[in-house]
Amino acid sequence: MLPSTRLLLSRAPHRLASCTYLRPFSSGRPLLNQNKPSAQSVSPHAPIGVSAALHAASNPTLTPRPKVFDEFKLTDRVAIVSGANRGLGLEMALVLCEAGARAVYCFDLPKEPSDEWRKTSEYVRRMGGGARLEYVAADVRDQKGMWDRAREIGDKEGRMDVCVAAAGILKAHTDCLEYPAEQFKEVLDVNTNGVLYTAQAAGQQMRRFGNGGSIVLIASMSGSITNKDHAWVSYNTSKSAVLQMARSMACELGRENIRVNTLSPGHIYTQMTAAYLDKQPHLLEKWSSLNTMGRIGRPDELRGVIAWLASDASSFCTGSDILVSGGHHSW
Ligand SMILES: NC(=O)c1ccc[n+]([C@@H]2O[C@H](COP(=O)([O-])OP(=O)(O)OC[C@H]3O[C@@H](n4cnc5c(N)ncnc54)[C@H](O)[C@@H]3O)[C@@H](O)[C@H]2O)c1
Repeated sequence: MLPSTRLLLSRAPHRLASCTYLRPFSSGRPLLNQNKPSAQSVSPHAPIGVSAALHAASNPTLTPRPKVFDEFKLTDRVAIVSGANRGLGLEMALVLCEAGARAVYCFDLPKEPSDEWRKTSEYVRRMGGGARLEYVAADVRDQKGMWDRAREIGDKEGRMDVCVAAAGILKAHTDCLEYPAEQFKEVLDVNTNGVLYTAQAAGQQMRRFGNGGSIVLIASMSGSITNKDHAWVSYNTSKSAVLQMARSMACELGRENIRVNTLSPGHIYTQMTAAYLDKQPHLLEKWSSLNTMGRIGRPDELRGVIAWLASDASSFCTGSDILVSGGHHSW
């Protein structure tokens, strides 16, 4: 076996049982599997689940232990999270560190990170385990800048495993029949183009290192429903595009074991929504009454789903939209 093949087999998270799923690199890019797939692939955590139970049955000296949280571990992995100076992005960056990531690079606009970011970074340091939260001043609308920053991270870390594209903007109500072109472009530039550039930046590094990866595009329930009484045509359009972007990228990248999904939150209190909720207090009751649980969500209520999507625990999930909205869609 070629050394490069052995390396790929030992690091490729989901190889097929009887054949090489990823084959040796040709011009830096893994060739697609040309063998027939076997019915059963092998978990990198094998033996696991019922297989582990059967394995234990024939090995009486083996002490069974719970393995479910092993699948969520991001030990030594490297991530990029955009919009992570605050809000949902920062919350997601933190949980990746808690799950064991080696370094999570937080991309955002300000030259210097916020006080909230610094305190979170210090918290990660005090947690021990060697995880690092790194700050990168970057504009997701700058395609080349995003690609370059990600390549530098790849050069430094020698891998790229997770991407969360969370940078986004929401503009004030504007009548859809009068919507100014410049403002429409501005929203799509960040929420759609910027999400693509972020996913490309990380995805290029995932391809370069050949270990697969997980890309999570932060869309919104506004990509598949319209927020009642809110004139947000640009935002809704931009998020809808992100849903299709993820499906499309997932189809292109699945054979490289690069998974692409969207996470669509419902109403969550952050600075983005505070711009409405703090100025129009009646909205809290209204938004709360629009979902089955009668309240809006907290940023920390996305921790579990991000840990799941980023990790091997979701290894067969790609091209999917995961809605976390308190049941807003269920009425
Ligand atoms: N809060 C909610 O209820 C909610 C619901 C559904 C989806 N979302 C989505 O979640 C994501 C995070 O939202 P949030 O609520 O944390 O908002 P937020 O405003 O608190 O955070 C967004 C972050 O994105 C950054 N950003 C904006 N433009 C950027 C650019 N050009 N380059 C780099 N960074 C940029 C901002 O500086 C900010 O730090 C957004 O995509 C948003 O649309 C939020």
